[in-house]
Amino acid sequence: MSAVRSVAVDLIYDSRGHPTIEATVALQSGASGRAGAPSGASTGVHEVQAFPAGGVPEAIRVVRERLIPRLLGVDAADRAAFDGTIHAVDGTPNLSVVGGNSATALSVAAATAVAAERGEPLWRLLARPGIDGRRFPSIVGNSLNGGKHAIGGPEFQEFIAFAEDPDPSRSIPAAIRTHQLLGEALHRRFPSAALGRGDEGGWVAAVGSEEGVALLAEACARARDELHVEVHPGLDLAASEFFADGRYRYRDRSLDRDGQVAFVAELVDRYGIRYLEDPIEQDDFEGFAAVTKAVGDRTLVVGDDLYTTRADRLARGVAAGATNAVLIKVNQVGTLTETLRTVDLAAADRQATVTSHRSGEVPEGWLAHVAVGTGARALKCGLLGGERVAKLNELLRLARLHGP
Ligand code: PGA
Ligand code: ZN
Repeated sequence: MSAVRSVAVDLIYDSRGHPTIEATVALQSGASGRAGAPSGASTGVHEVQAFPAGGVPEAIRVVRERLIPRLLGVDAADRAAFDGTIHAVDGTPNLSVVGGNSATALSVAAATAVAAERGEPLWRLLARPGIDGRRFPSIVGNSLNGGKHAIGGPEFQEFIAFAEDPDPSRSIPAAIRTHQLLGEALHRRFPSAALGRGDEGGWVAAVGSEEGVALLAEACARARDELHVEVHPGLDLAASEFFADGRYRYRDRSLDRDGQVAFVAELVDRYGIRYLEDPIEQDDFEGFAAVTKAVGDRTLVVGDDLYTTRADRLARGVAAGATNAVLIKVNQVGTLTETLRTVDLAAADRQATVTSHRSGEVPEGWLAHVAVGTGARALKCGLLGGERVAKLNELLRLARLHGP
């Protein structure tokens, strides 16, 4: 039994400079684990609440006063018991009392402590049936930022280098090279303008959404030629962020649902897009199904805000034929238990999973273990910045230990 001896929660800062929470869980054996929780900016309306109304200080106070006393002595190796205690003390469906980020930090810290106690890597503790740690996710690497992650950028939130290769020592440099080539192309396109970077390390430039896709597609083609890795364009539209009063609003026009479906289907074919996240707003399962019907045979159609990692919403999406893939973000549902429930449902329903960072991140590598342990089709992560590189480097380490 891996009984909990002590638990600590404290304030730390994320990559945007916003406060978040980290947890340290120590076991009777002396083993311990620590984890911090990331935060989103374009959060889905169906996510759990990251922090209670009083923010991080209130989260810390509530966890210390009400939750930690109940966690002491619990068997951390019994994930259902540990995570179940968090949900029981919180008592709300959206974790609004302790905060979803507290739940994530505690749940991951507990799992990390148990892994340390066993002398095993974290991924093995999370491993789903048939996972042996020798299969690695492809890379979904954010290269140009827009939407809520960039001031003055395009409507689409993320322009992605999707490097499809089972070997991280090939996929990671291919995605990074695409990012570099895209930066050079942007500089040529706007020779006298300043070029900045957004929240996830992608470039920020005053391009329109389609122009951004065209530049991205060119950069991918050049990276493919140079490195002989299958790197193709991807998009996260985060369409809910520019959807209002029934229409998708671009700087020069607005589209109804049918217009939006036709527009994204056209983009997929014109630019060879192979990864398409949230092309439709977060409550329109039918609109998603129309996109999947049109292009789901040649691109991943991924639900992020649509599902917010919730098994009940994924079940609804499967019934509707809404997607062929689901984004997995632990703090959208709080605990690893809830996350793995959704991962298992996805496997049963043949939906690919994509393990994802948040726009506000902590400089830790545990996300790579979640991706490997759950057999994710891809790891979605920025390519630059210490908090992003921490995850890529951890994936490289795992691949060197067990890899192809
Ligand atoms: P978020 O965005 O982390 O700001 O919610 C990431 C995404 O939409 O994929
Ligand atoms: Zn998204």
